[in-house]
This record gives sequence, C-alpha cells and structure tokens, in this order.
Amino acid sequence: MKTQVGIVGAGPAGLLLAHLLKAEGIDTVVVERQTQARVLERIRAGVLERTTTDLLRRLDIVTRLDAEGMQHGGFALADGDRLIRIDVAGLTGKHVTVYGQTEVTRDLIEAAAARDVPILWESPVLAIEGIDGDRPVIVHGDHQRLECDFVAGCDGFHGAARAALPDGVRKIFERAYPFGWLGMLADVPPCDHELIYASHDRGFALASMRSPTRSRYYVQVGLDESVEDWSDDRFWDELCLRIGDDAGKRVVRGPALEKSIAPLRSFVSEPMQHGRLFLAGDAAHIVPPTGAKGLNLASSDVAYLSDALIGWYKSGDQAALAGYGAKALARVWKAERFSWYLTKLMHRFPEDGAFERRMQVAELDYIATSDAMRTAIAENYVGLPL
Ligand code: APR
Ligand code: PHB
Repeated sequence: MKTQVGIVGAGPAGLLLAHLLKAEGIDTVVVERQTQARVLERIRAGVLERTTTDLLRRLDIVTRLDAEGMQHGGFALADGDRLIRIDVAGLTGKHVTVYGQTEVTRDLIEAAAARDVPILWESPVLAIEGIDGDRPVIVHGDHQRLECDFVAGCDGFHGAARAALPDGVRKIFERAYPFGWLGMLADVPPCDHELIYASHDRGFALASMRSPTRSRYYVQVGLDESVEDWSDDRFWDELCLRIGDDAGKRVVRGPALEKSIAPLRSFVSEPMQHGRLFLAGDAAHIVPPTGAKGLNLASSDVAYLSDALIGWYKSGDQAALAGYGAKALARVWKAERFSWYLTKLMHRFPEDGAFERRMQVAELDYIATSDAMRTAIAENYVGLPL
C-alpha cells in the first residue's frame, strides 16, 4: 500500500492532520492500534482554545461544536473561600470553548468516513523504517507495509513513533508529579457556569462540565490511592470542602458515571523531527491537565506541520519542513511552562512545608490584586497565538 503522508494514531493530532492535508488534496492513511469504539471511550479534558476551534471551523467540522460547545469568557481560581475570577474575555478579547475532547474525536472520525479519509483500525504500528531515506515505510498489523513520502507520528505518549528516532538524537525532559487527579463524571448540573480551579489546604480540586446537565469534577489524590478508596459520598464531601463555601453549597450530587485516577506528568522529547519522520501531539510532549493544554498543543503542532507539508507539496518548500520542529517546540515550551506553573501554584506537594504553602497563598493574593498577573494567566489560558 502507498500513500503520500502516513499517519500513525487516530487521536486528535492524527485525525486533524489527516483532514488538513486532505483539504489540500494530499493523500493520507491513518493507522490506529485500537478499535474505533475504544478510541471513543476514552474520557479526556474539555477546554478548546480558539486555535483549535479555528482549525475545526476551517475544516467545516463545527455542526455539533457550534450546537453543543459552551463559550466561556473566564474561570475562577479558588483560594479557600475566596474566588479570584480571571476575566479571560475582558483581558484578551477571546473566549475558550468547553466541549469534550472525546466529542472532537468523534466529530473527526465521522467526517473522515464522509470525506474518504482512510483509517485502518486495529492495526498497531510495529516499526517505522527508512526515515533517513526518501521512501519511509510504516510496518503495521500483520506486517503489512505502507510506503509513504513522509511519516507523521501522532501515536501519543505510549506510541511507537518517538522510539523510531535514532537513540543518540533524542533528548528527554521530564517531571513526574507526586500526585494524581481522581476524576468523576456525573449527570448533574454544574455548580457554576464557569470552571473553578481550587487550591485548598487539603489539595487541589477542579469543577468542570460537559453540558448544562453533565458535570466533570476532579480532586487531587496521592499516588498510592485507588478508585476503590473513594466512594461517591467521600468524593462529593471532599470536593465541596475544597472548592470553597459558595460553590460547595451549589454542588448537586448524583451517582458517578465514571471515576478514574490519572497521574500528572510534564514531558518533552526533542527534536520533533528526524529525516522524514515528524512527531506531533502527545507523541512528543505531555503536560499536566491543569492548564487544559493537551489537545490544544496537538492542534498547534498539526497546524504547523500541515502548513509545512502543504508548502512542500505545492511549491517544493524545504525550509518550512526543516523548521517544523523548532517552530512547534517554541510554542510547546511556553505551554509546558504555563501548565507546570499552574500545577505548582494549585496543588499540595508532599515535600512542601508551611513556607511553600504561604508562598502559594501570597501568589494567589497577588493575582487577585494585579491586572498584570491576571492578564498573564488569561493570555496563556486562552492560548498563545500561532
Ligand atoms: N500503532 C498505531 N496507533 C497507535 C500506536 C501504535 N503503535 N500507539 C498508540 N497509538 C494510537 C493510540 O491508540 C491513540 O488512539 O495513537 C493515538 C494517540 O492519540 P492520543 O493519545 O489522543 O494523542 P494525541 O492525538 O496526540 O492527542 C493529544 O488530545 O485528547 C487529548 O488529552 C489528549 O493530550 C491528548 C491530546
Ligand atoms: C475537564 O473538563 O475535564 C478539564 C477542564 C479543564 C482542565 C482539565 C480538565 O484544566
């Protein structure tokens, strides 16, 4: 089998890239290890930057996004009972859209079927050969071979593409955090019309939502804890304690539809390209979810990568392709910084003492009283320009 750009992974990065290339008449094949059902089961975060919604709009994949996505002009940082509102729209002129990333993936998969973008399901990539030559091959499934001009590794943190870069070339930068997020989904109205990120003495909590009738909540838990330690009642009690009195009183309780614990990690693998292999999304970098940047970074990567590939096919532009990794990494590192900063500010670290806690409280107090600080947070949250 042959194609122009072989794409490994049918997550948001791989699917968006396939659509962006297809729109310019460039052929792709997406090779995915899982079944379609498994890919659509994964519950992911839910805040989209303008960069991401603009890409979906350019692709005309916005019917459900426009009908169901919720425009948010701000969010709050809770510090005990005090709510510090970050007026994102007032400070930046832009909104974010609250819309589940699982729904983005569903929309992209449905559009792929309608637009003849081929996806090979249940076909794990086993090896990527010949990336130093001009005809790389993706070996997948039952040792089938997909010959291409270029390979895009969009196969997430646990994928095969990153490992195809030669050993001496790769540099890893990493920070694993000493806690996780216990997430719960419930069919109850959200406690607020905007998101609340809480930094409490007992630990972090987040009040988010999927729709006016479905809430998504998180609490920080230790790495040694398991879902079984957390009955629904215990979860609701802890959440209400941490998000502050006012919001806590408005929390509507209900049975959990899902509960799971996710670890938090910051990770960057450099470079993002070698020969004819290009990495995008979680294959190259991970952020802790505190800044809601995971899918949005995958979007900016593939915006850059699709531009560079289109330039190469349309006008033989080599420079843009050679510059892809550096351009993507410049934006990636700023999102890494913001995600790490918010994570440090909002969580209790087991190694930290009373002094570090006072530093967090002082910083939150400074944010509450400084337009400059709130602007810095707002412009990063809404997404730095491409
Ligand atoms: N062969 C084929 N496919 C693979 C392989 C492999 N060897 N390894 C992994 N995959 C697939 C996974 O099954 C998954 O569907 O690659 C896909 C990667 O998708 P994501 O993990 O969602 O990564 P990405 O597309 O970069 O998404 C970026 O979007 O939903 C958010 O939070 C998510 O931060 C993430 C962001
Ligand atoms: C979510 O709704 O799941 C969510 C929202 C914002 C975040 C992380 C997760 O920062």
